[in-house]
Amino acid sequence: MITNEEMAAVRQSYGRVLTKRNLVQRFYEVFMHSSPEIERKFAKTDFTKQYELLERSLTMSILYPQGNIIAKQAIGKIRESHSRKNLNIEPRLYHLWLDSLIKVLAELDPEFNPQLDKHWRKMMSVTLDYIKEGY
Ligand code: HEM
Repeated sequence: MITNEEMAAVRQSYGRVLTKRNLVQRFYEVFMHSSPEIERKFAKTDFTKQYELLERSLTMSILYPQGNIIAKQAIGKIRESHSRKNLNIEPRLYHLWLDSLIKVLAELDPEFNPQLDKHWRKMMSVTLDYIKEGY
């Protein structure tokens, strides 16, 4: 169970980092360096489009654990596109995605702390588990 306080803390942290123009660029930089396997997956990706898509899906990733219906649809599409028969993103890779996100949040949110780290991980895990279950 995620408490209202935990959700509010994550929303506020997200608000602080969204105003930083380099959030998604920095995320992909860190994520690509997390493993050669990840780098290979994005070999043909047009990043000008990908940055915008990630920004939108990050918002949806936070709204999904709060029971938002639009977010459920949006994350449902990602679940489908990342599954075995489409992009084929194996569930064992998602921890790299989460660790990359946390690393960038810690860099960009001046109020980041160990408690926020825990809240972010707990919240994003709900969304990531849903995506992984669709593999
Ligand atoms: C290990 C984790 C992940 C890997 C390796 C991965 C990889 C990819 C790849 C290769 C693409 C296609 C890019 C292209 O068009 O060339 C993609 C698209 C996309 N990814 Fe991921 N992804 C991961 C996790 C996630 C997560 C957790 C989210 C959102 C919460 C996400 C959101 C998206 C979106 C919105 C697109 C574009 C639309 C689509 O294809 O659904 N990805 N991803």
